[in-house]
Amino acid sequence: MRVMKGYNYKTLFFFSLLNAFALVLVVHAQDGQSGFISLDCGLPLNSNYTESSTELKYISDVPFISTGSSHSIAPEYKAGRQEQVKILRSFPEGIRNCYRVNVTKGTRYLIRATFFHGNYDNQNTAPEFDLHIGANLWSTVTFVNVSISSLKEIIHLTSRDFVHVCLVNTGSGTPFISALEFRPLSSEIYNYTAPSESLALLYRLDIGSITDLAYRYPYDFYDRSWLPYNGKWWTLISTSKYAQSQRSYRPPAIVMSTAATPINESEPMIFSLNDLDEKANLYFYMYFTETQSLKANQSRSFNITINGEVWSEAVTPLYLNTTTIFSTVGQSGSPEYNFSLVKLQNSTLPPILNAFEVYSTIDVSQLETDQNDVNSINNVKSTYGIKRNWDGDPCAPVEYLWTGLNCSYNDFDPRSIISLNLSSSGLTGNVTTHISKLSRIQSLDLSNNSLTGPVPQFLTRLPNLRILNLERNNLTGSIPIELIKKSNSGLLSLSVGENPHLCDSSNCEKKKKKKSTAIPILASVFGGLVVTLLIAVAVFVGLKKIKKKTQEPNAQKDSFESSKRQFTYSEVLRITNNFERILGKGGFGTVYHGFIDENTQVAVKVLSSSSVQGYQQFQAEVQLLMKVYHRNLTSLVGYCNEGTELALIYEYMANGDLASHLSGHSNTNVLSWEGRIRIAIDAAQGLEYMHLGCKPPIIHRDVKTTNILLTEKFQAKLADFGLSRVFPTDTGTHVSTVVAGTPGYLDPAYHLTNMLNETSDIYSYGVVLLEIITNQPAIIKISGSDERIHISRWVSSTIDNGAITSIVDPRLEGGFDINSAWKAVEIGMACVSATPGKRPNMSEVISGLKECLATELARNNHAQVTDSSLDVLTHEFTPLAR
Ligand SMILES: *[C@@H]1O[C@H](CO)[C@@H](O)[C@H](O)[C@H]1NC(C)=O
Ligand SMILES: *[C@@H]1O[C@H](CO)[C@@H](O)[C@H](O)[C@H]1NC(C)=O
Repeated sequence: MRVMKGYNYKTLFFFSLLNAFALVLVVHAQDGQSGFISLDCGLPLNSNYTESSTELKYISDVPFISTGSSHSIAPEYKAGRQEQVKILRSFPEGIRNCYRVNVTKGTRYLIRATFFHGNYDNQNTAPEFDLHIGANLWSTVTFVNVSISSLKEIIHLTSRDFVHVCLVNTGSGTPFISALEFRPLSSEIYNYTAPSESLALLYRLDIGSITDLAYRYPYDFYDRSWLPYNGKWWTLISTSKYAQSQRSYRPPAIVMSTAATPINESEPMIFSLNDLDEKANLYFYMYFTETQSLKANQSRSFNITINGEVWSEAVTPLYLNTTTIFSTVGQSGSPEYNFSLVKLQNSTLPPILNAFEVYSTIDVSQLETDQNDVNSINNVKSTYGIKRNWDGDPCAPVEYLWTGLNCSYNDFDPRSIISLNLSSSGLTGNVTTHISKLSRIQSLDLSNNSLTGPVPQFLTRLPNLRILNLERNNLTGSIPIELIKKSNSGLLSLSVGENPHLCDSSNCEKKKKKKSTAIPILASVFGGLVVTLLIAVAVFVGLKKIKKKTQEPNAQKDSFESSKRQFTYSEVLRITNNFERILGKGGFGTVYHGFIDENTQVAVKVLSSSSVQGYQQFQAEVQLLMKVYHRNLTSLVGYCNEGTELALIYEYMANGDLASHLSGHSNTNVLSWEGRIRIAIDAAQGLEYMHLGCKPPIIHRDVKTTNILLTEKFQAKLADFGLSRVFPTDTGTHVSTVVAGTPGYLDPAYHLTNMLNETSDIYSYGVVLLEIITNQPAIIKISGSDERIHISRWVSSTIDNGAITSIVDPRLEGGFDINSAWKAVEIGMACVSATPGKRPNMSEVISGLKECLATELARNNHAQVTDSSLDVLTHEFTPLAR
């Protein structure tokens, strides 16, 4: 061990986790392996076996990858090694080769990739290459030499029902992999990272090991691999009585039975991590158990400091019980971390440590492609047997975009495929219907292939299709009339030349007939409509949606991009069980609870049939909701537009509106400060998307606490776009004619200018933010008088007179970071500034609020779980025996 700076600073030597698994003892299997996925890479299809040292069952990786070739390591490296590293899969071809492994969505997995070269290629040199998880860089895989393995572990929350693990050739040799393992974890552990971060393992150490062996499954329920570590100035203590913890982090009994303590009992226990990247964002996990049964006059308590700052105070390990102390926010900014476990004055015994883990976060925020698009394009790939670089995620990262595809990239939504070019690709057979599921596609080029069969109808239903090239194929039948019309009106660039058996309208008997019957119907129903509506009307006929009472002026409904479901009125009755349960009353209508199927709850807003204004609102709302999609805006499931019966069907928001969580003064279910800031950020993100992510920008016009709805998990979404209008940006003026807004939230500048724009939404948002902070209404009634005062005036006069604590909701009882609260008040007050030009924009608001959140989270930068505290809870809820 290297000695660093001062006599007892020791470096935690960088274990390359060298061949550790060769040393694991054979033990009895314990229950488990449930949900384990253990792939032996390179194993022939349909082969499987149980590795005797771990009892882990390995299967072939063939069903999970379509590329690469299988190799055996050199015989001299096989002795004493576990089976799964004896063969491997290497990837001499292609830049990126990916495994696709089906997992349970929303589950945290420990994922381990093992690489053991073993001179499989007789070259005696190990390569260097990158490892990706989804669209994100996980790690660079390097080797000391061909006889030492490399292991990569990550704790990763899955956001879809599969995970891509990719090996990327970076020009330094052929990538290969020996084993790939997935272990589902309990949702209660390692769960303090942001969704955009995963934990990559740096160290996992069994402190005070007596055997000097590495342990994994079945010692470790989750198959974490623990390596022995002892410091030079430490002595070992152990117990034979520790029983395996069945809860929480469940460190292995064999690891927890041993601990280290300083040789010199009055010295602190000191160790350090060195040579780190300053930017590394680290999470620490320390595990303690008292191995001795302490006498009445004995005690063991100590503080833990990191780089001189107290991290955890008065740690007192409990006899044969696990205490886990861990980071709840990452620590960064230093190349070195010095840990001291310092005995308290009144403690008779020195500190101990049983186990220690260090993780570094990796950024996994790069979005992957929309899962429907992934499935569709993979189906297209297998239908036509396409062999290209089509592996892993189609769109992300953009450097490895599949050739022939183009995708949309923005900060909010999953990537989606907007163009597909399979020109000159030797395609045979029909135009596959799998293309119809690429719902955002704008350009489709299938030219110069040998495609046969008809030009499919679904091509007319791709709402965004602008370019369609089917030239030089063997397509037959006629071209759908809707495509021709779209082309004639300039909405579609259509190329169908050199298809010898394809007939156009001039030589198709059937086609002519259809045309001649269609036009009179259209003319009689929509005689007065302008020509541009014809396309919509054509779709209308195609869908056979003509009802008897079509005299209603609602022909426009057919221009709704109908990717959302349209429901009949009788379906609405069934969904709401005849309007059984009222959820509330929103703009121009009552909102009812409903079920679309057994499991999917919805909120149904029914617009009163008599209200003409309601009808216009309905149109505006549907058209807007069709266009915008963002996780912080309530989304539309479908709508009903049958004669005079109008209804909008939204996703159900289990926790109702924000107003109901702020109102009242009871001290139960008080939203925490962190929870409040998260809600404020969510709402701000929804508004930011409307203002800055939509072109032209959308003004909400009625931001208020009753229009901010909360999901089961208290994620906030903006609702009720009823008063919104899409503003033309080119005219430069945002003049509105309809008076909008709610008293207390309406921008006072509106009365002067009669104009509503982004800054008026920001004013309303500021009022909401002040309400979130203070729990006061927008307009406050001064008790004992008739006087009313606006919340912004109340806050500014209270700031002048007192401290932040008199502004923030007293029900929080001081449970918030002072700086976080100041910052939030500052942002709220800037938003309600009387001068619109002084208000921040929504992006500035969000970055400010994110600082508030970070400050609040840093207030408690660690947490502690004691297994026995869980025991106590369980006992409390056990009924007493009579
Ligand atoms: C030791 O002192 C700390 C405060 O310094 C206190 O929290 C703890 O309860 C004391 N322990 C004993 C055994 O007196
Ligand atoms: C498709 O690719 C071919 C050849 O790579 C190119 O000539 C053609 O313009 C592309 N089509 C479109 C619609 O971009």
